[in-house]
Amino acid sequence: MTDLTLPDRPEPPEGADDVWLHCIECGHALPPFDDVVFTCPECDGLLEARYADYPTFDDFSGEGVWRYAAALPFDEGVSLPEGNTPLHEVPRLEADIGVRNLRVKHEGMNPTGSFKDRGMTVGVRVAEELGVDRLACASTGNTSAALAAYGARADLETLVLLPAGKVAAGKIAQASLHGARILEVDGNFDACLDRVQDLAARGEAYLLNSLNPFRLEGQKTIGLEILERFRDEEGRFPDRIVLPVGNAGNTAALYKCFRELVHAGALAPGDVPKLTGVQAEGAAPMVEAVREGNAETRRWDEVETIATAIRIGNPVNAPKALPGIRETGGTAVAVSDEEITAAQRDLAGEGVGVEPASAASVAGLRKLVAEGEVSTGEDVVCLTTGHLLKDPDAAAAAGRDPEDVPNDTDAILDHLAGKDVGGGLFGRLRGLL
Ligand code: F0G
Repeated sequence: MTDLTLPDRPEPPEGADDVWLHCIECGHALPPFDDVVFTCPECDGLLEARYADYPTFDDFSGEGVWRYAAALPFDEGVSLPEGNTPLHEVPRLEADIGVRNLRVKHEGMNPTGSFKDRGMTVGVRVAEELGVDRLACASTGNTSAALAAYGARADLETLVLLPAGKVAAGKIAQASLHGARILEVDGNFDACLDRVQDLAARGEAYLLNSLNPFRLEGQKTIGLEILERFRDEEGRFPDRIVLPVGNAGNTAALYKCFRELVHAGALAPGDVPKLTGVQAEGAAPMVEAVREGNAETRRWDEVETIATAIRIGNPVNAPKALPGIRETGGTAVAVSDEEITAAQRDLAGEGVGVEPASAASVAGLRKLVAEGEVSTGEDVVCLTTGHLLKDPDAAAAAGRDPEDVPNDTDAILDHLAGKDVGGGLFGRLRGLL
C-alpha cells in the first residue's frame, strides 16, 4: 500500500561510490559532481541524491545541520551555522486547537531567518566542489536572502530574480546588504524560475532553487531534528508534520528523510509522520492535486495571497512531494488570508513570531481538526518556516496599533487607565484648542 522504500541494492554509476544522482522518472544514474546538471540529461525528470549507505540515529553527532553529515554528501559546508532550531511547546494553542500534543518547529530561528539556510549550507558547498563562480536563484524572498548570505560567506557572486513588488521588505533588505545583484522581474515567482532556469541552462549561473537536488539534502535535516527531539522529549515520534507548501521542496525533503530512515531500519514504516501540506487559497495547486487525486499539479497562472513566500502557482517539486503526502497517509488543505493572519496572531500570543506563510501550517491544522480530518488524539508538529521580521509590514498590520501619549507620566497613567487625556488624535485636537 505505502511506498516508503528505496531500491534494496543501490547501483552507483561508474565513477561514483558513495553518492550519486538518480532520476526519479527514468532511473538514470549519474556521478554527482562531474557536470553541472539540475534535471535528468536523459528525460528532464527531477534528480535526487542517492547514497551507498544510509545512517541510523546512532551515526549522528554534533549540532545543527552538519550533525547529520552521515546523511549528506559532505562532512562540512559553508556554515553560519544553521539548524538546531527550537521545537516550541505552545500549550494554549494546543488546548485551543485540541490535539494531544502540539509543537512548533521554528525554522525562523536559522541565521537568515528561514529554513532555506539548511539547503544553502549544502548547496553552496556543492557549488564550490563544482568550481562555479556565479550563483543564482528565483525567489519569493527567503531563498534570495539565504543565497545572498551564503554566497557572501563563500565569496561567490550571487544573482537573485524576484517578482517585482511582491517580496517582503525584510527579505529584499537582506539580499541587498549581503551583496546580491537583485533583478526584479515583471512577472510572478514562476516566471522568475523560468528565467533563472534558462540562465542556468545557458551556463550563466549555478541554480540554487529547490530544483537543485542538493538543497533538499540539507532540508532533510528538519525531519531528522524533529524526529530526534520529539522522541527524546516525548518517547515516541510525532503522528503528523504540518507544513506550508510553495514549491513543495520541504515536503519532498521530509519524505526523502523518512524513506532513508526506513531503509536504514531506524524508523518503522508505521512510525512515519503523516505529511500534511498547507497552501493559501489563492495559490493552491498542490491542494487541488491531492484533493482531486491527480498525479500532477496544474499550473495556476494567477496567484495571490498575503503569504507572499508561498505565492507560487507551479510547484516544481510536485513529482517528489505528491507521493510523499499520499504514501505517508497525509493530506493537504487550503486556508484563507484571514485564517493565516489569525494563526500568525495566535503564534505571536505564545511568543513565537513568524511571517504569514509560516502561520499557514497552524491555520491548516486548526481547519483540519475542526473538520474532523485530523484526530484530537494526535501528536502534531507544525513547521513555521520564516521569522516575523521577514515581513514587518504584515506583522504591523496584524498587530496592535501604537497609541500616541504625551511626554508626561501622569497623562500616560491616565491613558493606561482609559482616560483619554492628551494622547491620541482627540487629545492632540484638544491641545490645539
Ligand atoms: N515558507 C516560507 C517562509 C518560504 O519562504 C517558502 C518558500 C515556503 C514556506 C515554501 O517552501 O517551496 O519548500 O514548499 N520560499 C521560496 C523562496 C519559494 O523563494 O524563498 P517550499
